[in-house]
Amino acid sequence: MSLLSLTDVHSFYGHIHALKGISLTVEEGEIVTLIGSNGAGKSTTLRTVSGLMHPGSGRVEFDGRDISRMEPHAIVAAGLGHVPEGRGIFPTLTVRENLEMGAFTVRDPEAVRERMAYGFELFPRLKERIDQHGGTLSGGEQQMLAIARGLMMQPRLLMLDEPSMGLAPVLVELIFDIVTMLNDKGVTILLVEQNALMALSVAHRGYVLQNGELVLNDTAANLRRDPLVRTAYLGMA
Ligand SMILES: Nc1ncnc2c1ncn2[C@@H]1O[C@H](COP(=O)(O)OP(=O)(O)O)[C@@H](O)[C@H]1O
Ligand SMILES: [Mg+2]
Repeated sequence: MSLLSLTDVHSFYGHIHALKGISLTVEEGEIVTLIGSNGAGKSTTLRTVSGLMHPGSGRVEFDGRDISRMEPHAIVAAGLGHVPEGRGIFPTLTVRENLEMGAFTVRDPEAVRERMAYGFELFPRLKERIDQHGGTLSGGEQQMLAIARGLMMQPRLLMLDEPSMGLAPVLVELIFDIVTMLNDKGVTILLVEQNALMALSVAHRGYVLQNGELVLNDTAANLRRDPLVRTAYLGMA
């Protein structure tokens, strides 16, 4: 049984048919990437999985449970974390408060402290800025905070939406190193990226999305060699 599976998922924004029958799986322990151009439906896919929107038809299953109609808070509590595009941190709350919000169902204050300490171990810069408001952090620090917050519920599967967007190359490297390290520690990852080169360098497998439909599905190594991927997403001849 796959940890996550989508079966013939269709999603809509009013009359806009954004996902036109998506079927994909993520196995426990994998890093799977979903690549595609702007507007392909990558964020919509993650939003449909995390319950921010519900599929018009089709099925989303996590750990053997149908989560297609579940609300976002229940899906997070079930072990599925989502770090949204644009980070989604609370600009008027401090780093500490943002992290506390990430652990909203955790009653034990000691557990919250331990998880926060783990986030600071991953991203020491956040610790130095613990009382600073989220909105005053740099783009890279906001991405670190968004990831650390996504980890506060100790997800089995973490979905990251364009974590490298707008970051300087050295920070892109750092974020991808953290993704690999989290995966080594047992967190399954579904990574959405326009930066296909980076994504395919850390992922085990990938899917290519075009206009709401999956057009390719292969190992990352094969996708890196694929002519369509090379011309359309890697900018190579
Ligand atoms: N809130 C929205 N309202 C209407 N259409 C939307 C909305 N969000 C996304 N879309 C449309 O859905 C399609 C997929 O968008 P999205 O999932 O954001 O793509 P990606 O993340 O791959 O760039 C696009 O055609 C986009 O214009
Ligand atoms: Mg997007």
